[in-house]
Amino acid sequence: MKARRSLLKGFGGYLPDRIVTNDDLATSGLETSDEWIRARTGIAQRHRAGPEDTAVSMAVAAGRQALEYANATPDDVDAIIVATSTPDQAFPSTAVRVQGELGMTSGFGFDVAAACSGFIFALSTADALIRSGQARSALVIGSEVYSRILDPEDRSTFVLFGDGAGAVFLQATEDGGGQGIVSTHLHSDGRHGDLLYVDGAIGQKDKSAYLKMQGRDVFRHAVAKLSSSVDEVLEANGLKYEDVAWLVPHQANLRIIDGVARKLHLPPERVVITVDRHANTSAASIPLALNEAVRDGRIRSGDLVLMEALGGGLTWGAALARI
Ligand code: UT7
Repeated sequence: MKARRSLLKGFGGYLPDRIVTNDDLATSGLETSDEWIRARTGIAQRHRAGPEDTAVSMAVAAGRQALEYANATPDDVDAIIVATSTPDQAFPSTAVRVQGELGMTSGFGFDVAAACSGFIFALSTADALIRSGQARSALVIGSEVYSRILDPEDRSTFVLFGDGAGAVFLQATEDGGGQGIVSTHLHSDGRHGDLLYVDGAIGQKDKSAYLKMQGRDVFRHAVAKLSSSVDEVLEANGLKYEDVAWLVPHQANLRIIDGVARKLHLPPERVVITVDRHANTSAASIPLALNEAVRDGRIRSGDLVLMEALGGGLTWGAALARI
């Protein structure tokens, strides 16, 4: 029997209409500047959710687009996995709400919480469900409204994050060709849980829950752990740097992305960058970048794409896929 694989058949994305530039932040009373933000992060602007945007509504919009791209309907979906650290409710899960909005009467859905690595964890889980035969297809979505967990007075985090959602639609194949998810690699180390965390829970009445980050320490871990993840992927598959066509990294900081790309010997034109326009959209950043580069024709069928991310937990990981 031929091995089953997960093909990436559809791509989608959603960004709220409202754009907030670095200058908007600097003139709104936050002690920062366009120059500082660009030089330290590569970020020029970010999209921020309006009152009508929720983790569910953005996930539905991105998910629908991914299904349309694949000429599929909600009836073709067996599993929905949403990666989010900013769900609208503790439960039902975002994924089950999405299932309801799509009008599905079968299948199953659940959320994955791995902060900025969430999409890699969700993709890996979906791939495992497909390979094991528990699902023949999966809608994998990252949807985040970090603007609702940012401290407006903390310039060291407030400028870094944006809102949005991205999605891919996976379908099982047994055709034995080389396309689809090749391998995924997950890691976490709870000893570093206090480097990047939210200091509260949903439903807490007496105070807001805000994101807290030791930026410099997270930066150090990101460069080291993402570089070793890249090596791990290549070694596991007997590949060389030059076999990778595209790096689609988590978009936290242009300096981190450049560091990993250098390690891969990939020139800048083979790296998909959205951090300048989207900022850090956490679990949504990789599927948003993938969606953009597939739709504008940069990433083509047959290209080998390496995705990697690190986030609160610490969690980190990588995925290799032939589109
Ligand atoms: O997606 C999850 C993973 N997250 C990441 O990968 C983020 C990793 N970390 C980073 O990207 C960087 O550490 C930051 C962009 C967060 C910060 O850059 P940095 O070069 O590490 O700066 P820093 O934290 O060392 O701060 C340098 C200075 C400080 O001032 P002093 O103490 O030197 O006087 C900060 O107070 O920059 C100051 N600063 C700012 N100045 C203007 C911090 N935030 C701002 C700001 N505007 N927004």
